[in-house]
Amino acid sequence: MADHGGSGRRCQLVLIASPLQGHMTPMLQLGTYLHSKGCFSITIAHSEFNSPDPSKHPDFHFQPLPDNVSGTDIVCASFIHFVQTYNNNCKPHFQGHLIKIINEQKDKSNKESIVIIHDHLMFFAASVASELGLPNIILRSSSAAFYPAFMIIPKLHQQGRYPAQDSSLQDIVPELHPFRYMDLPYNNRPVEETLRKITMSTPNSPPSASIYNTLEFLEESALTEIRDHYQGPIFTIGPLHKIIPTPSTSFLEEDMSCISWLNKQAPKSVVYVSLGSLAHVDEKVSTEMAWGLANSNQQFLWVIRPGSVHGFEWIEFLPEGLVAKFKKRGLIVKWAPQKEVLAHNAVGGFWSHCGWNSTLEGVCEGVPMLCQPFVADQQLNARYLSYVWKMGIEIVVERGEIKGAIKRLLVDEEGKKMRGKAMEIQEKIKIALSHGGSSQNSLIDLVDFILSM
Ligand code: UDX
Repeated sequence: MADHGGSGRRCQLVLIASPLQGHMTPMLQLGTYLHSKGCFSITIAHSEFNSPDPSKHPDFHFQPLPDNVSGTDIVCASFIHFVQTYNNNCKPHFQGHLIKIINEQKDKSNKESIVIIHDHLMFFAASVASELGLPNIILRSSSAAFYPAFMIIPKLHQQGRYPAQDSSLQDIVPELHPFRYMDLPYNNRPVEETLRKITMSTPNSPPSASIYNTLEFLEESALTEIRDHYQGPIFTIGPLHKIIPTPSTSFLEEDMSCISWLNKQAPKSVVYVSLGSLAHVDEKVSTEMAWGLANSNQQFLWVIRPGSVHGFEWIEFLPEGLVAKFKKRGLIVKWAPQKEVLAHNAVGGFWSHCGWNSTLEGVCEGVPMLCQPFVADQQLNARYLSYVWKMGIEIVVERGEIKGAIKRLLVDEEGKKMRGKAMEIQEKIKIALSHGGSSQNSLIDLVDFILSM
């Protein structure tokens, strides 16, 4: 890998992270990598809600931005309202902070360039960068497939193909092969329209470049589509969690007891269940999940975030009788060290909501998956896993179906085949990350690109 530390050129990077776990993590991973190059100083500007832990990243400067939002806003108010509010509230503070940095640079004899890298949900940063004449790069933490799928919606709407009718949900969208109408990010026009309005509110400040936490070979056609339609360099540097070791970025405390529990289980015998950091599930769905796990007679490790089942603090929804049954076969925790869990030899399958980080983490460890997507890119990611990469099963959350799906994954020949496919992808990822591989080359290009700004 090229060493840029000796080039003498230095740059101040201001990274604007989103307060969502699945977005904060890749931003901190990117910052850790760029800092390791020796030519960047890193400031993490972040909202006060869900702020990162500075003690875990002693080399970074942290700049809190007062936001006036709280966790309950994500759940109680709409997600869109939450995004809009923290963007409005963070903007003036961020602008003030940048002006301070610019003025400090003016007084220095050895000036550093200032470059903004922002999460795509923190779009206020793009308009501030444009107003102050600073280059800005966008970090996309969803799958690349999300963007062509999101961008095509107005055309589909105009042609009467969106929102899709029930009868056509299973049909493939010809322009988005192999994705179906049901895989589109939102089958809800008002939500999609509002999100588009707010995220596209800065058309006059397009990013200087875009970074995708993905790999060329994994998302070839989506990346071709993006390159055909959008200007500016694109860096595909994923999977970020594998490029450099990064301290834990979890907002919730990781329950390490699950690793000692996994140590006692037979190889490939455990299904790991986690629906990510945002999904909220109703009691009926959670109860079906519980019965499905119990009836499968397989070992399981289930992450249930406190408050993630509507109307319950934690696991009080579990039907009487199941808790005792569970003790023999399973472990429930509030939050797990997920990457470590997926890398554990005892884990034979991953039942996931298919958030992009979880998808990449499962793929990187060669673990076949059960797919239960909720929103945004998750349905697209589930389609990749089941139909394109052939290492996942899309499930209907009903106890009988779940019992069957877990058996297919952990016991049947089908599961072994899926594991084989997953391990082939795992090998290709290792190649992409090694010297001369696509992600490694893209990282080098990214560093050169930033230093040339
Ligand atoms: C959100 C969106 O839902 C997703 O579709 C988008 O692609 C990114 O942002 P989120 O629900 O946070 O995702 O899921 P995901 O992207 O999978 O990120 C969750 C992160 O939390 C993963 O890095 C995972 O390792 C971590 N995690 C999850 C834990 O560390 N412990 C757990 O117990 C559960």
